[in-house]
Amino acid sequence: MQTNYDVLIIGSGVAGLTCALHLADHLHVAIIAKSQLSEGSTFYAQGGIAAVLDKKDTLASHIEDTRIAGAGLCHSDTVAHVVKKGKSAIHWLIEQGVAFSVAEHDFPYHLTKEGGHSHRRVIHAADTTGKEVESNLEKKVRQHPHIHVFEQHIAIDLITSHKLYKRQDTPNYCIGAYILNTNNDTIITFQARCTVLATGGASKVYLYTSNPDTSTGDGIAMAWRAGCRVANMEFNQFHPTCLYHPKAKSFLISEAVRGEGGKLLLPDGSPFMSKFDPRAELAPRDIVARAIDHEMKRLGSSNVLLDISFKGKAFIQKHFPNIYQRCLTFGFDITQEAIPVVPAAHYTCGGIMSDLHAQTDIQYLYAIGETAFSGLHGANRMASNSILECLVFAKTAAEHILQHLHLNTTEHIIPSWDASRVTDSDEEVVVSHNWDELRRFMWDYVGIVRTNKRLARAKRRIDLLLHEIDDYYGNFYITSDLLELRNLATVADLIIQSAQQRKESRGLHYTLDYSSTVEDSRYDTVLTPHNFT
Ligand code: FAD
Ligand code: SIN
Repeated sequence: MQTNYDVLIIGSGVAGLTCALHLADHLHVAIIAKSQLSEGSTFYAQGGIAAVLDKKDTLASHIEDTRIAGAGLCHSDTVAHVVKKGKSAIHWLIEQGVAFSVAEHDFPYHLTKEGGHSHRRVIHAADTTGKEVESNLEKKVRQHPHIHVFEQHIAIDLITSHKLYKRQDTPNYCIGAYILNTNNDTIITFQARCTVLATGGASKVYLYTSNPDTSTGDGIAMAWRAGCRVANMEFNQFHPTCLYHPKAKSFLISEAVRGEGGKLLLPDGSPFMSKFDPRAELAPRDIVARAIDHEMKRLGSSNVLLDISFKGKAFIQKHFPNIYQRCLTFGFDITQEAIPVVPAAHYTCGGIMSDLHAQTDIQYLYAIGETAFSGLHGANRMASNSILECLVFAKTAAEHILQHLHLNTTEHIIPSWDASRVTDSDEEVVVSHNWDELRRFMWDYVGIVRTNKRLARAKRRIDLLLHEIDDYYGNFYITSDLLELRNLATVADLIIQSAQQRKESRGLHYTLDYSSTVEDSRYDTVLTPHNFT
């Protein structure tokens, strides 16, 4: 089965939906989502979106804070590009119907604060900003006559000219993707004049994560296999505060809780953050997560505590209604007591290398949002800069596509997916076992604190798993679990290789073998696939 669109957007978070809405008055767009449309990290975003909106704030200050959090690796052109477009991105969201929390006085909207920000500049919808953004964009997308939504469809691989015509002497360009419809297990060939990867991050590569199940790094793995370079995969962000409870599945406790005064405490009730950084609870995330990890290991404790109870019930219920309710369901009343928290994998700072127009190494292939490496975040993303990046690059990509798409009008004869040599799996357990094993050793060996020995151990294991998964993939019908496992294994390998290349500690990459930052190592870790041209 084959279908044709002007633009194929893989991913339906804020990046994918925003890009579609900016394109759809001019072009026919397909949006592919491997779950239901709203499922992805965006929906769960809590704290808000950083932008310079207050008269007392400045673009220069937002740029400088981003740069400091990024520990020397932010690309200054990207930071300026994103920060300058912050205000218009927020206004666009308001036009789409997004209702941000209002202020009691002064500026019409309430602005909160998070780690690394020297001003209040995070606009939010209480503590469910992502839900408010995603639901409004979803409504607009579903109403648009030129946008066709394919839910429960998972992209398998990109179709490129090099693969299709088996030659590498002309520039490689993207022609679409093979997509598995998981409702009926059929594989559809989506031909498109242009393809946008908006597939989110890869934090599911770790055992404990704040992310939903969709974050399996599919876009990064697909782009890598197709011949795109990826960069800075060693910089995995661990959010300092997820609820510690066996049933809470790493439920996030927003950094805005600390922004509004929340204190981190040891199990005996004593504060500890100012021992690690003068900015204490509001130091950038890498520093706070590492401090918590250090104290937990020092004390042999399963968690530390986060206390906001002193702000009073009315304040807490107004600012953090979702966190308050969710914690209650686990037996914690945050208006009365400190709650147990631990770090968990949260954000993928590296990704598919893309330029200021969101173009990748392959023509007519764009990467936006968390799957992309735009150069904004450097070695550590500052809080609430992610949704901002998604909004800005989704629009930039759409503008570039609208200007350049007329160049690409060729129709291709693409062979259907060939499943003639595979059979039903006789050992599904291999897939689930490998999923568990991979996520556990990534957590144990490639987590907040690394060493050469741990990385080497992880590399040996991932080499073996990659081999086994390849074998399995070549012999059995594909399922979404198998596709995700294959992608997670690719991404894990890219993370380990990148971490092994960086012989220093910087931002989110901390290793006991090279514990200081080396001034001369101010460069990105760029990995190049064998089929890169
Ligand atoms: P996502 O929203 O993750 O969407 C990815 C999409 O890709 C999904 O639709 C998924 O189904 C689809 N997809 C993936 N692979 C495939 C495939 N193979 N085939 C088809 N579809 C596929 N950032 C902030 O700036 N502010 C915050 O307050 C904030 N809070 C957060 C709270 C939580 C709990 C989490 C997890 C993250 C938070 N972040 C926050 C980070 C931010 O939410 C994400 O980085 C951002 O939303 C990513 O958007 P995206 O569109 O790139 O990807
Ligand atoms: C949070 O609310 O703490 C998450 C913010 C972010 O990841 O940017």
